[in-house]
Amino acid sequence: MYFAIPARVLRLLKKLLGYCNDFRAGVLMITMQDKKKEKIMLVDDNKANLTMGKSILSELYDVFAMSSADKLFEILKHVIPDLILLDIDMPGMNGYEAITLLKADKQYADIPVIFVTAKNSELNEYEGLGLGAIDYVAKPFAPALLLKRIENHLLIQKQKKSLQEFNDNLIKMVKEKTHQLYDLQNAIISNMAEFVEFRDVITGRHISRTQKYLKKLVEQLVEDEVYTDELLIWDMNVILLSSQLHDIGKIAISDTILNKAGKLTDEELEIMKTHTSKGVEVIEKIENSTDFAGFLEYAKLFAGTHHEKWNGSGYPQGLSGANIPLEGRIMAIADVYDALISTRPYKKSFTADESARIIINSTGTHFDPTLIKSFSKIKDDFAAIAVEYMD
Ligand code: C2E
Ligand code: SIN
Ligand code: SIN
Ligand code: SIN
Ligand code: FE
Repeated sequence: MYFAIPARVLRLLKKLLGYCNDFRAGVLMITMQDKKKEKIMLVDDNKANLTMGKSILSELYDVFAMSSADKLFEILKHVIPDLILLDIDMPGMNGYEAITLLKADKQYADIPVIFVTAKNSELNEYEGLGLGAIDYVAKPFAPALLLKRIENHLLIQKQKKSLQEFNDNLIKMVKEKTHQLYDLQNAIISNMAEFVEFRDVITGRHISRTQKYLKKLVEQLVEDEVYTDELLIWDMNVILLSSQLHDIGKIAISDTILNKAGKLTDEELEIMKTHTSKGVEVIEKIENSTDFAGFLEYAKLFAGTHHEKWNGSGYPQGLSGANIPLEGRIMAIADVYDALISTRPYKKSFTADESARIIINSTGTHFDPTLIKSFSKIKDDFAAIAVEYMD
């Protein structure tokens, strides 16, 4: 079927299409303007200079002309230019004072400033450049030369900016990747540690609970301002990561001992005790196979010293007091608390109160009294962690 479109409708359609094109062109113009036209501020007390400068520059740039440095700072509150052309001799604030203020203000310090001035002795130029101007143009100047210099400086500035952006992106990317790597490491290590510790009874949460107790206790120590010198240099991510390996030596203990339903014989207990030194050996092996394992230094301390006791009756070395690395002294509290409050193949679970009481009763025998003082304040937080991350 065919029918003629009425002329009136055609006209309307054309008009609408025209609007569309205008609109598109307008958007294009605006974006081109936004992209292409850089903003230049021209500061000169001489009206004739302002007019001439504006006529030279305005074909290529958005020009903001102003007759004093005070006005410059007024306008800077609203618009940040790509470049400032600054006269030196002006009533009120002169060009030297203006550039000093600009460079002292973080918001403005990066805006390139070119002095354009009749003060054209070498001494003036030296002084101007010394204050942070990127160039110095003497009046009268050849317009083409001024334009070329402006173009060069804007280009350098643009390159500087994109380099900075590139750098920022790179830093962001490295941070993200590092974080991902940490998460991956953490997942691998915690799963490995869980497998080692509970070979056939995979309950899975002793390691994460121990991390939470450790974190809580360290935060309390920081608040109580004890062992500040040591704690200050601890990177908590590294500490938590490495703490998970404290029982890695149990990989060398046979199933029959590890999962024995009852009390261990003395002989079995002696074998069990070797999980500390075995742990250090295992970690040293991992250490020897990678260059990227600074955290294993902490892991060795956790594994090697978490069964030492304050009074010297622990193992494997029988260290006492502050000779036990702080890592081991802190881990002992977290580790024993979790052993007490949990069900093990060889023991029933204690209540939170009983667990805390057993720990506190061992102050000075098993545990560091300074640490127990802080622990006492947060035993309810420990109980809450045990509940939240229950098996
Ligand atoms: P674990 O089960 O993770 O226990 C860690 C630490 O918590 C113990 O280190 C001990 O200091 C404390 N602890 C655990 N249960 C109790 C308890 O009922 N009362 C008190 N007061 N403290 C407790 P310890 O004794 O050096 O043992 C190291 C590891 O040896 C234990 O790790 C566990 O895997 C194993 N183990 C120790 N005793 C026995 C046992 O009688 N039977 C079995 N099957 N394993 C045992
Ligand atoms: C745990 O709760 O830490 C695990 C103990 C277990 O049941 O093997
Ligand atoms: C060890 O038990 O082998 C010593 C652990 C350590 O101090 O690093
Ligand atoms: C320990 O000191 O070995 C743990 C707590 C206790 O035995 O009372
Ligand atoms: Fe242990």
